[in-house]
Order: sequence, then C-alpha cells, then structure tokens
Amino acid sequence: MTLPLTPDFAPAAFDMLAAAEGRLVLLLPPDGRLGVLARRVNRAARGAVQRALESTAWEKLKRGEAMELAWPVGLKAEAMQLVKLPARPTVAEARKAGAAAGRALGEAGAVVLAVGQRRVADVALGLMLRAYDFARYRTGESAAKPKGPVTMLVDDPDSARAALPPVAAVAEGVCFTRDLVSEPANVLTTSDFADRLAEMKTLGLMVEILEESDLAKLGMRALLGVGQGSESPSKVVVMEWQGGASGEAPFAFVGKGVCFDTGGISIKPAQGMEEMTMDMGGAGVVAGLMRTLALRKAKANVVGLVGLVENMPDGRAQRPGDIVASMKGDTIEVINTDAEGRLVLADVLWYAQERFRPRGMIDLATLTGAIIIALGHENAGVFANDDGLAAALLKAAGAEGEGAWRMPMGPAYDEQIKSRLADMKNTGGRPAGSITAAQFLRRFVRDETPWCHIDIAGVTLQSKDTMLAPKGATGWGVMTLDRLVRDMLEG
Ligand code: BES
Ligand code: MN
Ligand code: ZN
Repeated sequence: MTLPLTPDFAPAAFDMLAAAEGRLVLLLPPDGRLGVLARRVNRAARGAVQRALESTAWEKLKRGEAMELAWPVGLKAEAMQLVKLPARPTVAEARKAGAAAGRALGEAGAVVLAVGQRRVADVALGLMLRAYDFARYRTGESAAKPKGPVTMLVDDPDSARAALPPVAAVAEGVCFTRDLVSEPANVLTTSDFADRLAEMKTLGLMVEILEESDLAKLGMRALLGVGQGSESPSKVVVMEWQGGASGEAPFAFVGKGVCFDTGGISIKPAQGMEEMTMDMGGAGVVAGLMRTLALRKAKANVVGLVGLVENMPDGRAQRPGDIVASMKGDTIEVINTDAEGRLVLADVLWYAQERFRPRGMIDLATLTGAIIIALGHENAGVFANDDGLAAALLKAAGAEGEGAWRMPMGPAYDEQIKSRLADMKNTGGRPAGSITAAQFLRRFVRDETPWCHIDIAGVTLQSKDTMLAPKGATGWGVMTLDRLVRDMLEG
C-alpha cells in the first residue's frame, strides 16, 4: 500500500533551517510577529520574510494558507513557504497548514519550523494526508518521485514523537482506503480485495472470508444474485477488532464492496462508467477504519463486514424481473439490476445482526446517483433510525471537517418500493431515490438496532484537489468514524 510519510521531530536549531536544501516551512502567526528563529531566518534572507509579511498578499491569506518565496537569498533552501497559523489554531486550521506543506513537498523534503505551535500533531496529519499520491501505475517521466524527509522543529521533540502514532494510524487508514478506491477493477477483484484484508491479520485483526458456498448456505441470495454474472467470486469478509471488554457487544460497520458496477443487464451508459471502480468505496472505508483501529489499538470492540461482488452482464447474470429471497427471508423483485448495492447490503446487514447482535450499526455505500443531485460532492447523506446515533455521527463528522448531512426517512416512502409480486422491489423510481434506497435497507435492520446509513456516492471521489487530498479518492469517513469510535465507545 501507499504508506504515508512519517515526519521526524527535532529541537529548534537555526543550523537545521540554514542548512536545509529542500523546502523551509515557517509557521507564522497572523500578526506577523517573528520568534527568535524566524527572525534569524529573516536576517539570513536579508529581510525577505519581514517584507513578505508586510505585503497585502500576506494580509489576505486565511489561517492555514501559505505563500511562497522561491530560491531565497542567503539560505540553502530551494523555497521558503510562509504559512499563516496562530500558535493555538483550530484543528482545521492546523491541518490546512500541514496540507499546504504536504501539497508542495518534493524529493528534497522539508524542514518545518513549528516552535510554539500547540497543534503539531494536526499539522503533521494534514501534511501526511495531502502528500499522498497514488503513483503505482505511472512510469517513466510521470513516475512519482519519492517525497523527501520532513523534519518538524518543535519545543519538545519527544512528546511530539510520542503523540504521533495515533495520528499516523489515522493517516495510514485513510491512505489504505484511498488506495483501494483508486485501484482499477482488473487489479482489485473481489479476491484481491479479500487478500488485502486478510493481510491485516498481522495487525491483530481477526479476518474471516466467507466464500460463495458459505454465503449460499446462509441464504444470502440477494447478494449472490448481484455477483452471479461475474467471473470473480462473491465474498463477505468479516474483520473483528477486540480491544474492549471481553464479551461486550461490538459496534458493527458494514460496507458496500462492488468492485465494479457495470449496472449488469440494466447496463449503464459508457460515458463515465470507468468511475464505477470506486463502487467498493463503502467497503474501502470500513477496511481503512479497521486498519486505523488496529494500528492504534483502539479500546473498543468493533466488527467490520464487507460484501464484495462484481456487477456484470453475462449469460448467467441476474435479469430485471428476477425475484430473490434474502437471508432475512424477505423476497425482492429486481426491477433494475443497477440498484445492486442495496441487495448486497441487505444480506450483510442482516448477517451482521444475526451473528454479532451489535450495539449499533453503520453502513457506508456509494449507493445512489441521487445523493449527488441532492448534496453534490460536499456532504455525504446520513439516514438513521436513531436520533442519538445520527447526532453523534454528525458531531464526529463536524469535528473532523468531513461534510455530512442528515436526510429524512419515513414509512410514506415505502409506497414507492411495493412490489406486485414480492415483498418489495429494489427501485422506487426517480423521486427521492436516495431515500427509497435507505428505506429499502431499513427493512433489513431490526428496530432495536441503532443504525445509520451513509450514502457516500458524492464524496468518495473528487474531480478537484481538496484540502487534504489530491484529486481522486478522498478516504472520506475514516477520520469521522475513528472519531465516533473514540467518542462513543472509548470515552
Ligand atoms: N453505484 C451506483 C451509484 C453511484 C452513482 C455511485 C454515481 C457513484 C456515482 C449504484 O449502484 C446505482 O447504479 N444506483 C442507481 C440506482 C437506480 C437504478 C435506482 C442510480 O443511482 O442511478
Ligand atoms: Mn448500480
Ligand atoms: Zn453500485
């Protein structure tokens, strides 16, 4: 996988700044008052820092934003980045500042002057996340150059170093998710995905792979129907982290893992279909979250379950009009084979409850195009049967700066998924398409299980750079759910 770079920490010393051949990053307060070391850098650069800070360009910068001086005179550095950041910034400001450094980072690395800074770990996290680059398939000229070492000069290097592991665990989980989402479907098949999850056994996770024969015995006909037109075998992977009290019911996370979604016999138009390599994004977030929890040895019992399938048209593929029985026993008329995610989740949600009796459950899925019409690419859609869990989730998302917005549910929407022949149908027409999908899922959630469904179709991939990620896979949700686990289960 693409491992995030790990910054090192050193005590503040002018020599390090003067000798740095890569980039110099100075975190400077909005009022432009220079500390001792920044003053020395300014003197070495013949007053360039001071002049920059007196400019209107500096004045106009928002907290966490940066300006750049190339080839500063009097220093060895190739560039000097001046980042506006108060000594006591918000989490978002600190991450943004780190991201400014991470975005510009090159082969020669950087020395970051962060003395007096109270949120060093968040600066580091921003840097680690924004320096991410999925470069596996770029060769020759366009091949990625390794991004150089980063040294952060801080007041107390030992405590900064000691505070890094949980942050690095989050960064690694996010990068794992981004890698999974970025991989093309000829590489990340259901089997390859399962193999990558099985490798996490080395981190202390219990990982179990249920094969098609197991799923058939369990009666997961809804899930199996989706994958029956593919050469890649359908699988359910169960990841267990037992860091809490033994015997305590776990919290469950469930992910939609459609490794490629052609739409099946209800085939999608060619335009943009290549993006459906990201239709395993929900499973990707669950995988990244479990990685983070294991890496930081979370004090909670958590299970992650992913349904891995590929939705292909084929002689054996499921047809529109087919009726399948779910593991729960409810029958489903498949009106549109492109509404496959809910068929996968129906069985995995039910299985998760039957097997683990979880104290709560959250599923993530790139479930509907309609959520993009509703919320664009700024917010994931949150649906819930429990106001307390929804509130906790939205609070965690707010704290981590990941957009999430509660959407309504209600029995009135069930009218749209009534079937003439079966217990329900898998589509409810165009109106409220994301809500009818959530109503469908809700039928596979026991009333007594607090549950949220997060439709991440709009936030899994971005067509432009964002604060913490280059264009492409974002890893949306790993930070939010890690925060939720901390607040709700470890508190
Ligand atoms: N994977 C898609 C949803 C999707 C669309 C994700 C765009 C990311 C970007 C899902 O399986 C799907 O095809 N949904 C259909 C449902 C419809 C047939 C009821 C949709 O949204 O059009
Ligand atoms: Mn689909
Ligand atoms: Zn899909």
